[in-house]
Amino acid sequence: MPEVPEPDGFAEKFFDFVADHDGPSLAAHVHRKATEEQVRELLRHRTIYHLKEADHTTWVIPRLSDRVKAAVMELQFDEYGGGDPNLLHAHLFIRGLQDSGLNSEYGAYINEAPLEVLEENNAMSLFGLNRRLRAASLGFLAAFEATSSGPSRRMAQGLKRLGFPESMIEYYTEHVEADAVHEQLAVRTICGALLEEEPDLHDDVYFGAWTSLDLEDRYAERMLKQWAA
Ligand SMILES: [Fe+2]
Ligand SMILES: [Fe+2]
Repeated sequence: MPEVPEPDGFAEKFFDFVADHDGPSLAAHVHRKATEEQVRELLRHRTIYHLKEADHTTWVIPRLSDRVKAAVMELQFDEYGGGDPNLLHAHLFIRGLQDSGLNSEYGAYINEAPLEVLEENNAMSLFGLNRRLRAASLGFLAAFEATSSGPSRRMAQGLKRLGFPESMIEYYTEHVEADAVHEQLAVRTICGALLEEEPDLHDDVYFGAWTSLDLEDRYAERMLKQWAA
């Protein structure tokens, strides 16, 4: 793990840390160059997370203080469709998969998921289900949200270029705006409140963030290498 920044001015330092450690971009490849078959492979791998999108964060909720809990609920309400079952992010992904002729049953593609995808999903569960790792869970969330808005825009443009169905494109366009808000909420309001109350958890927040960045980078490296071969 790289060196963790000093605790003062947390939000700015956290955003810088994410920007400094964000590696090769799958979204940039999808935007300009990927073939339809490559994108379909990527979407199959993404089912492992997107079909249970946000659930790992729900696990951490009872392990938080009231103030942090309330902030996480604001974000989760949005991930879960603001009360409308048709607007759950996981549901938007199901519609996109079905319209693209892909299997939307949970775990359908588990046997072809690369190691990094399984590792990342296991880490999310581990962090959410253990109180001692609650700060890592929120750091993971913050880094995940902070690396989503821009890439989602490029994903949407790439899917459009390749003629994917509107519902699949919409899953990503929804995340352009949503995650621009979520990253502020996750970094400033959620992690910010956690660290005001429990400054000792500072390095754990970065441990969670690094886990997300590192696994996403290693997954991207693997796929770009495989597709280049
Ligand atoms: Fe989402
Ligand atoms: Fe989000």
